[in-house]
Amino acid sequence: MKPLFKGKHLITLEEWTKPEIDTLLAVSNELKHDFLTNKPTRYLENKVAFLMFFEQSTRTRNSMEAGIAHLGGTGIFLDTSKMQIAHGESAKDTAMILSSYGHAIACRNCFWQVGNRYLREMAEHSTVPIMNLQCDLYHPMQGLADLMTIQEVYPTTEHLKVSIIWAYATTHKKPISVPLTQILLFPRYGMDVTLAYPEGYDLPDWAIQKAKENALANHGSFRITHQMEEAYCDADVVIPKNWGSWVTNDSTAVVDDLLQQYQSWKCTESMMALAKPTVRYMHALPADRGNEVEDSVIDGKHSIIYQEAENRLHTAKAVMALTIGDK
Ligand code: CP
Repeated sequence: MKPLFKGKHLITLEEWTKPEIDTLLAVSNELKHDFLTNKPTRYLENKVAFLMFFEQSTRTRNSMEAGIAHLGGTGIFLDTSKMQIAHGESAKDTAMILSSYGHAIACRNCFWQVGNRYLREMAEHSTVPIMNLQCDLYHPMQGLADLMTIQEVYPTTEHLKVSIIWAYATTHKKPISVPLTQILLFPRYGMDVTLAYPEGYDLPDWAIQKAKENALANHGSFRITHQMEEAYCDADVVIPKNWGSWVTNDSTAVVDDLLQQYQSWKCTESMMALAKPTVRYMHALPADRGNEVEDSVIDGKHSIIYQEAENRLHTAKAVMALTIGDK
């Protein structure tokens, strides 16, 4: 396989054209088929990707590590608390050194107003592709897997009614990067996107503006509601998920008075009954079961969470296969 996008950074899918994203998805589908039929795919022999994590991960770390192994290369997991970053080493120096040792640098840094800047600084100085494994603003690897999954279920996405719905959770104050990525990406595929959240959980104005522009340019639509029921009504896909109130309150406190007002924002059987009978339930995971969603929904017939999580592997492999090349 030719690395068609050799050296291209993936920090946000906004910097990838639709034909480029379509190519990523086509290769993801091919690699999925190859994996499931045990066909060798050693496109990255002798290639090394560094996988830097400032935070915990199950899907992202393991889809990248397993993915590069399937492609014949090596992934090196780096817990940044054990690197000299912990003593203040700069993003520039880290990027320059790691680029000289390997062929890609992937990084998760979700610290609010820090993570994306950190990735941008690495990209400025890296000689190999930088892959965003989730920052404070974007989660492109998740967005790709979500889009792949939706396209598997609904081959035509035009005017598909997709609702991205805030949900109550107490596990940790989560980044806004998953819903932000989804509101930017899905309208580019002609979907009718509804963003629903209670007052105080706004996404940044620039992202809302861009989501509207993406919808207008691609025959989709984008609307905001603060009525949870409205978002479930007649939906084809619902994605109820918590995110933190970073835009209005940058405190890291998980539980506060604002959050506690909205315990009723839970994905329940009665909410699901408002959607189309064929509705699909999605979640990037990990889910806060019992708070964000009832077990009977996440484990029920509408749920495609495991297909969505599995597709993280195939999309991660496509990104690596198409961007990592020879020195
Ligand atoms: N969805 C997702 O990114 O999962 P992890 O945090 O486990 O990587």
